[in-house]
Amino acid sequence: MNIIETIQKRHSVRTYTGEPLRQEHTAQIKQYINQLQVPFGKKARIEWVGVNTGEKPIKPGTYGFIKGASAYLALIYEEDDFAATAAAYMFEQVILFCTNLGLGTCWLGGSFSRNDFKKQIKPNADEILKIVSPVGYPSDKKRWLEKILNTDRKHISRKPFEELFFDKDFDHPLSETQAGIFLTPLKMVRLAPSANNKQEWRAVIEDKTLHFYKKPFLKFDSIDIGIALCHFELTCKELGIEGQFEKMQNHPANDSVEYVISWIQK
Ligand SMILES: Cc1cc2nc3c(=O)[nH]c(=O)nc-3n(C[C@H](O)[C@H](O)[C@H](O)COP(=O)(O)O)c2cc1C
Repeated sequence: MNIIETIQKRHSVRTYTGEPLRQEHTAQIKQYINQLQVPFGKKARIEWVGVNTGEKPIKPGTYGFIKGASAYLALIYEEDDFAATAAAYMFEQVILFCTNLGLGTCWLGGSFSRNDFKKQIKPNADEILKIVSPVGYPSDKKRWLEKILNTDRKHISRKPFEELFFDKDFDHPLSETQAGIFLTPLKMVRLAPSANNKQEWRAVIEDKTLHFYKKPFLKFDSIDIGIALCHFELTCKELGIEGQFEKMQNHPANDSVEYVISWIQK
């Protein structure tokens, strides 16, 4: 899959045709999930939830936000410091895989009934079900809810590059021309989906190191940054830019954001 193209293609899809997933698509997604590793040494898993299939058919509730999806993916993990971020990184890989197959998806953190999903998934006592996503064939029709929520606009609206990325410290916004080889990886961070499209991730470039930050105390801050880190690292890999994530003691600081991790170019 071409990551840059796929990131640009992905957008939240809330209305589906209702057509059941073709067997080859189901098999490809399940196979992809099975071989995925959770990054940062954390524990997480992704479960497949069929709609109206299995021994106990269920139609998981999404309060009208989603229509016509034939399956869902559910993200489950043991809550700890960095598990949500690692789990989100992994889940976004599957979202991109589905996008590449021509399927629609939509991260859902609020608009779904956890009880409905737990009937099929049954997380252990120490696990939480934080996120689900429908998977299906996108419909061209737009429903009133999507018109009210203005979802098309949310998809294209992202904060300016200079508001998200900084040069050496938080006092100096980074322009696209200053970003050098990191221009495309950062542009792909900017396209990352985030809860309510808040985009509360920031990065500071210091020579060959990028420091990543999130705005703390938001309900999905750890998830949102995990998606952003996924877009960044997969894009670097595709472009042949080698490096790795590392927690650093010394990094620029700012009162309104919390340091998460750095990426150091080799
Ligand atoms: C962690 C997370 C939670 C989300 N929760 C919901 C949700 O509960 N309901 C919903 O309709 N969209 C939800 N979204 C989708 C965002 O609204 C969407 O990604 C954002 O508006 C950007 O639009 P785009 O995905 O089309 O680029 C969520 C996204 C993320 C990353």
